[in-house]
Amino acid sequence: MVTCHPLLSAICLLASFAASSATIGIDDPSLDAKVEALLRQMTPEEKVAQLVQYPIGQPTGPETGLVDLDSMIARGQVGALLGTAPVRRINTYQRLAMQGSRLHIPLLFGLDVIHGYRTVFPIPLGLASSWDTALIERTARVAAREASAAGIRWTFSPMVDIARDARWGRIAESAGEDPYLGSQIAAAYVRGYQGARLDAPDSLAACAKHFVGYGAAEGGRDYNTTEISEHTLREIYLPPFHAAVSTGAASLMSAFNALNGVPASANRFTLTQVLREEWGFRGLVDSDWLAVAQLIPHGIAINGADAAEKAFESGVDMDMTSGLYHRHLLDLIEAGRISPARLDESVRRVLRVKLALGLLEHPYTDESQESGAMLQPAAVVLAREAAERSFVLLKNADVGGKPILPLSDSVRHVALIGPLADDVTDMLGSWPGAGRGEDVVTLRQSFEERLGNRRLRYALGTGLTEGSDAAMRRAMRDTLRADVIVMALGESHAMSGEAASRANLTLPGRQQELLEKMVATGKPVVLILFSGRPLTLPWAFEKVPAVIAAWAPGIQVGPALMRTLFGESNPSGRLTVSWPRSVGQLPLYYNALNTGRPRNNPTEKQYVTGYLDEELTPQFPFGFGLSYTTFDYGPTQLSRQRLHVSTAEGLTATARVTNTGSRAGSEVVQLYVRLQGTSTAQPVRALKGFQNIVLAPGESRTATFQLPSETLAVWDIHNRYAVEPARATVWIAPDSARGKGAELEIVP
Ligand code: NOJ
Repeated sequence: MVTCHPLLSAICLLASFAASSATIGIDDPSLDAKVEALLRQMTPEEKVAQLVQYPIGQPTGPETGLVDLDSMIARGQVGALLGTAPVRRINTYQRLAMQGSRLHIPLLFGLDVIHGYRTVFPIPLGLASSWDTALIERTARVAAREASAAGIRWTFSPMVDIARDARWGRIAESAGEDPYLGSQIAAAYVRGYQGARLDAPDSLAACAKHFVGYGAAEGGRDYNTTEISEHTLREIYLPPFHAAVSTGAASLMSAFNALNGVPASANRFTLTQVLREEWGFRGLVDSDWLAVAQLIPHGIAINGADAAEKAFESGVDMDMTSGLYHRHLLDLIEAGRISPARLDESVRRVLRVKLALGLLEHPYTDESQESGAMLQPAAVVLAREAAERSFVLLKNADVGGKPILPLSDSVRHVALIGPLADDVTDMLGSWPGAGRGEDVVTLRQSFEERLGNRRLRYALGTGLTEGSDAAMRRAMRDTLRADVIVMALGESHAMSGEAASRANLTLPGRQQELLEKMVATGKPVVLILFSGRPLTLPWAFEKVPAVIAAWAPGIQVGPALMRTLFGESNPSGRLTVSWPRSVGQLPLYYNALNTGRPRNNPTEKQYVTGYLDEELTPQFPFGFGLSYTTFDYGPTQLSRQRLHVSTAEGLTATARVTNTGSRAGSEVVQLYVRLQGTSTAQPVRALKGFQNIVLAPGESRTATFQLPSETLAVWDIHNRYAVEPARATVWIAPDSARGKGAELEIVP
């Protein structure tokens, strides 16, 4: 039964009709009449209020800097809040809005629910390493269920910025460097958060961010300027946003960075031309935190009114926290600087999201449901599964004639060493949501449970950033009886994420020294690397026999690693970023242009692109990851060798993949394309498909990819998306650096 907001009763019948049918989202046609019905009754003050968002629990407001949030809400001056508060307090805010304001329009409560709410999953870079969109969707669904039970109906996720530079701390929040994979993952998050119906009480409105180009910050320095040609914007940076919009994302967030000289939060080209006019996006655009006010330090606004006008006119609908819309929009309208029609446009978008969420009918959260919704057993199992799937086995060398991993249960003594072996906070990553340290099962706890105290020695060895000789000596003593040394090293949660760029990507503090001491014992060492980004560790990759990139795995770090180390779970994660050898290689990405002077073989040195003092290739390429088994790829075969530019159905590509090892394993089969002869230079390889296949030992399967000709389209010299005559090479391969391509002619 649909209950009806009093102001909407005339169209309630329509609503109940729509509510009983399929998916409801922001594009649902039944919303338009409801939006207009509300809009007609609103005063300009009430309209502006819908565009104002303040943080919970922080002194803020336009007049004094210390305005009481409750009274602003009760006077109907606020449209949305962000941040956390106990669910009862959230309901209190909502009651103030519903009872205090004339039209009883509810508040929208937003929060950064990035990789889980109470059940904390691996950081997004880790989740992406699973290359499993169904898994990612399931994690987002759990996050939505938990966060909505706590009164949140809007998440500032997914972050869909393309990240090509590991110095940038927010690479941790990204899906990596590839626009195709990034688009698939963006869509998966949106589906997971928003569910089948946005108006279900356990759905969250998604917010794809940061629109756009934020990840291209020069020097990898957060908030820094970006210069991206329109061509590269369209080929690389825009597709994941487009995917989010096409999947029905309710909102987007405008970014902090300047893009080609125009701040992204005042960029008419991206916010209006691309987003509204080309893509037809009907949801709301929220600014990033204070991004409206930051137009002043950016240098394009001289005061708050100017900043509000520029952001608003470019297409930013809601002002996150600066208070400048609150303070100036009405005056700007009265002065004729902003038209009432433009105001209505933004208000419509906000109302549409609130209506789509069903907030007008159900503004309150059922407080009795909150605790029962958290950490449900199935969610915890999913957290373990997601962590297992996020691990990327980077190296697994032979020790004594066989690979060091998996460990055997008959191992007698293990020394577990390192500052992250018994840590809880850092395992939760840079956006822990409502996650708690007490929910984390550490590596040490899981090891103890499996081996018992007598077979395990644990020592810190060093802190993350500071260490002592005495602690190192203690750790050395603990290795004396060990058959194997397992090391847990890396970064703290605060070393990646926002405002956490690094110019050096080595192990912080004395961790490298500790690692070298452990390797010098001559005992086999397994390094588990926890980090929000790839770290440049050439010494470790040469000298340490086994390395697992574990990212920040979330609450189930211990059980997931235990199952992986002992072989109950076979690693299947693959890198979604090219792993650099040294910082000087950055930015680094596999889908690069060839240059006019490519290096065609490693010995070619003169007048070809590269470095005098560093390899050109990454330490590990995009798509790379080992398994406890091995896979063999047959040749790539194409259903045709010639294709007409307008043959819509395209072609089929196949390759036989065989598990040649002695364990079952999951392989991420990847399909890449290169185009030559096009009007714009195209990458040496571009991912166009992938699939996870599970193979028993000795089993073969044909991986089949349908490639409609749109897959072969490019952004051409006129910035049009078109299939052009070209020579195409297609690879079905285990990563971006391997495989033997098949040729295809695309003819006019
Ligand atoms: C700033 C961050 O850039 C953005 O990602 C986040 O959603 C907002 N703060 C709100 O917390």
